[in-house]
Amino acid sequence: SRIAVLASGRGSNLQAIVDAIAAGTLDAEVVAVLSDKPEASALQKVAPERRWARSPKDFADRAAFDAAMGDALAAFAPDWVVCAGYMRILGEAFVQRFAGRLVNIHPSLLPLYKGLHTHARALEAGDAEAGASVHFVVPELDAGTVLAQARVPVLSGDTAEQLAQRVLAVEHPLLIASLQWLVAGRVTERDGQLEVDGHPL
Ligand code: GRF
Repeated sequence: SRIAVLASGRGSNLQAIVDAIAAGTLDAEVVAVLSDKPEASALQKVAPERRWARSPKDFADRAAFDAAMGDALAAFAPDWVVCAGYMRILGEAFVQRFAGRLVNIHPSLLPLYKGLHTHARALEAGDAEAGASVHFVVPELDAGTVLAQARVPVLSGDTAEQLAQRVLAVEHPLLIASLQWLVAGRVTERDGQLEVDGHPL
């Protein structure tokens, strides 16, 4: 399968995908990495011809940026598009264009803590657990059908950074396991109802 990745930063989730492919545990190839940050180190993880990055400030508005990124993405003909540390909201037209093959990994136990600062919010709430979610992307932020989640304990005295590191450590295997299901064609998602091997989740 052809996987494209949207990333805005260091790309540790992208690195996990690259490592799984190299280890033979994910039957796919990363055909492209696209970013809203031309300096994102994630871009360095693929060959130059597989990189696309532009500064949103070079575009009239969000729709224009999303249209340009969508055109570049479509040209790579991805089977799956993975938002992995992509920190910009995707407009509705972009989401609809890739609906059904667009997934995101979010560092919270959705539906808790959509949006930013998820770890600080979990700590603030005194939660005993935190974690990550892989979900299909819909126009509403972090609201699509959840495919898989991983949990970690919140430890007394945790800082947001310590919790973030503990969650990040489970994000990587969670993302790879989710992608293994998707690449193997075992998942269908219809009107918010997920089925794996025909069994409703
Ligand atoms: C991760 O916590 C991811 O869940 C969130 O962005 C953070 C950085 O991801 N969306 P990465 O290390 O750039 O893959």
